[in-house]
Amino acid sequence: MDSALPTTQTRNAEAAKTEPRDTVTITDNRTGKSYEIPIKHDTIRAMDLRQIKVAPTDFGMISYDPAYNNTASCISRVTFIDGDAGILRYRGYPIEELAEKSTYLETAYLLLYGELPTATQLKEWQYHIVHHTFIHESIKKFLDGFHYDAHPMGMLISTIAALSTFYHDAKDIFNPEARKKQTYRLIGKMPTIAAFSYRHSLGMPFVYPDNDLSYPGNFLNMLFRTSETRYRPNPTLERALDVLFILHADHEQNCSTNTVRGVGSSHVDPYCATAAAIAALYGPLHGGANEEVLRMLVEIGSVGKVPDFIKRVKAGETKLMGFGHRVYKNYDPRARIIKKIAYEVFDLMGKNPLLEIALECERIALEDEYFVKRKLYPNVDFYTGLIYQSMGFPMTMFPVLFAIPRMSGWIAQWEELILDPEQKIARPRQIYLGQATRTYAPIERRG
Ligand code: ACO
Repeated sequence: MDSALPTTQTRNAEAAKTEPRDTVTITDNRTGKSYEIPIKHDTIRAMDLRQIKVAPTDFGMISYDPAYNNTASCISRVTFIDGDAGILRYRGYPIEELAEKSTYLETAYLLLYGELPTATQLKEWQYHIVHHTFIHESIKKFLDGFHYDAHPMGMLISTIAALSTFYHDAKDIFNPEARKKQTYRLIGKMPTIAAFSYRHSLGMPFVYPDNDLSYPGNFLNMLFRTSETRYRPNPTLERALDVLFILHADHEQNCSTNTVRGVGSSHVDPYCATAAAIAALYGPLHGGANEEVLRMLVEIGSVGKVPDFIKRVKAGETKLMGFGHRVYKNYDPRARIIKKIAYEVFDLMGKNPLLEIALECERIALEDEYFVKRKLYPNVDFYTGLIYQSMGFPMTMFPVLFAIPRMSGWIAQWEELILDPEQKIARPRQIYLGQATRTYAPIERRG
């Protein structure tokens, strides 16, 4: 792996003034001392700040960055985002092109191995995924133990973590063959566990995988098959779901990916690390937002009530869910593609009555100074809920539909972490502002 950023050299501040160099000079006004710190990829190493001290026994300077607004935690070659320009690429390929020409499984291969597969590689890859779609009967019993109204994300988190107890070879994380096996299992079993969770909540019998169907087609089969001898997915819905899977497959260092890397840095097995990532995704500020968007649209109730709702958002009483993004300060490129898919699905299934409310929210927000000034645009979650609802999914399944394809991105990022010689257990610092040393008081002398 190309490293890395150079480590520090201390130079004279006068010399730094003479010729342009890839360094930054920091002068500590407490001591008058200057430090010349190397820059690579427009970045300095936080550890280079540690030499900045007043007394030799000081710990040295650290940087403070709650929520990692301006901190790179890794070097990655998986996904590129230019948030200002609204660009998203997987391994260099624009998301628009992948959404138009690729399948989800091809895209997952690209994310994991860095190249689009040849026809032979794709056939082999699909074979392995398909042959890992079944789950152990004990996992089925485990799922049966959940209460009928358990949220499917809670079921997914627990069941993926439980897989760790079935596959002991998963602990062998530095063995490429063992990693490959867990990759097949995780990508293959995600739709099965998700579909079984859904069927459990309905009290319906589980439908076993049909390995002659495509990845999204089989998922629809396991969700919706009733008495037919053979389930035939509608090709428009099958393709729409596949494109949605492509769009959700990876998104560089977001909250859940940072979680898979953080948890994975302790060298736990990938089932535990990805279960933690699913938990992070569940939150309403992340992958849970698609469910929240639908709840919000239902709460607004009609187009006429949108202006009042926007007023409440601007007063800080609530958020316009599905708007805003830490990285995109422009239209999320995925939202554009999703809007197009929405119309294809509505043509088939009938228009979602909440669509008019969503369009009105978007229209007002894109013109309103509050949103314009803060660069708040629709994100990936704004329209997905409407599509999922039209396809027949209940709201609680929306974040699950996000988690299924994100598994390939999480594993690609986890593998990159495992193979990066610069990475260690993730362990941030803190600024301690609590009590200094205190004298312990026995209980009878307190208060
Ligand atoms: N509605 C109203 N105001 C908003 C929204 C929103 N959806 N998002 C951000 N703002 C406002 C903030 O209140 C803040 O205003 P201020 O400067 O007056 O205090 C300003 O815009 C900047 O927002 P931050 O919270 O600093 O932005 P941050 O990058 O931390 O948060 C986030 C990004 C979490 C996505 C946020 O925009 C949000 O909560 N959106 C709604 C939830 C959502 O749709 N999440 C899905 C994101 S995509 C994904 O994870 C798949």
